[in-house]
Amino acid sequence: MTKHLISSADLTRTEVEDILATAASMHDLQRREVKKVPTLRGRTVINFFFEDSTRTRSSFEIAGKWMSADTINLSAKGSSTSKGESLRDTAQTIDAMAVDALVIRHSASGACHQVAQWVRCSVINAGDGMHEHPTQALLDAYTLRTRVGDLDGKHVVIVGDLTHSRVFRSNVITLTTLGARVTVVAPPTLMPSGIEAWSETDGFATSWDLDAVLEGEDAVDAVMMLRVQRERMSGGYFPTAREYTVGYGLTRERLDRLVTRNPDVLVLHPGPMNRGLEIAPEAADSPQSVVLDQVSAGVAVRMAVLYHLLAGSDDESDRADETDGADETDGAAGTVTTEGALR
Ligand code: CP
Repeated sequence: MTKHLISSADLTRTEVEDILATAASMHDLQRREVKKVPTLRGRTVINFFFEDSTRTRSSFEIAGKWMSADTINLSAKGSSTSKGESLRDTAQTIDAMAVDALVIRHSASGACHQVAQWVRCSVINAGDGMHEHPTQALLDAYTLRTRVGDLDGKHVVIVGDLTHSRVFRSNVITLTTLGARVTVVAPPTLMPSGIEAWSETDGFATSWDLDAVLEGEDAVDAVMMLRVQRERMSGGYFPTAREYTVGYGLTRERLDRLVTRNPDVLVLHPGPMNRGLEIAPEAADSPQSVVLDQVSAGVAVRMAVLYHLLAGSDDESDRADETDGADETDGAAGTVTTEGALR
């Protein structure tokens, strides 16, 4: 795996599958009473979030802590960014403290790529503007694979505010890399410009008609609803919230029709959800919803990403070496490891 994780396109299929396999081991660990392993002891991970976050920031922090890394959270407010320090100066200042990884969320598309040119440590993109959110795509793929197995040939429909969605961009890359068939649906005003060329290159379908896709010949295995990102909208992208819901929301009626065709259909949403706008509460809380599974997978997948970037080896024997004989309790460090915890 490369030094940084900036885009989902940084990962080959083999690398994605390696990360998902590691995440499965990490998920087992998550179910244990004592979750801590020494894998990243002595490593320092800085979570620098210039935009708000609940899931990504807390799961990166938990992931680092469970792997015994020293994790520190910074936000724009409370750092010298609020005094006008540039992104470059801020990034290089943190890097000068000999940290190992910088996890960055930023409102500017391309910010993480730019920071990676300036620093020595690894950079992980935790969401940059309207560009990408690669660990979200990995955790979505993990959630899907846990439920439906191999994604080859599975039909995943991604619906909503595509123009402003970094989750959609990363998911299209990761899902098609894993062999899924992807259809993206949005009103014309929220369909990104240039998507026709991209869809031809990467082999996914586009549509403005949600009902035609959901009821088409190609049965749907999973539907991923995206948040309407009002905070990134400067103009009127749709007449009213009601009209958006009628055309593009996962209403109870739409879910009922989906379930009639495929009782095993899955409903995903990266969160935070606008209940009643892009997803009805009945759909968000339905047996088909895996929204909280996605959150749970987020910790395991971020542990796996930190492991692959920072632990220094993808080799299974090395991983075994790290855990062999590690079924001891290190009382002073408060660290308990159990044999095979990472396998
Ligand atoms: N899905 C996601 O990125 O959520 P947060 O904004 O809460 O991190």
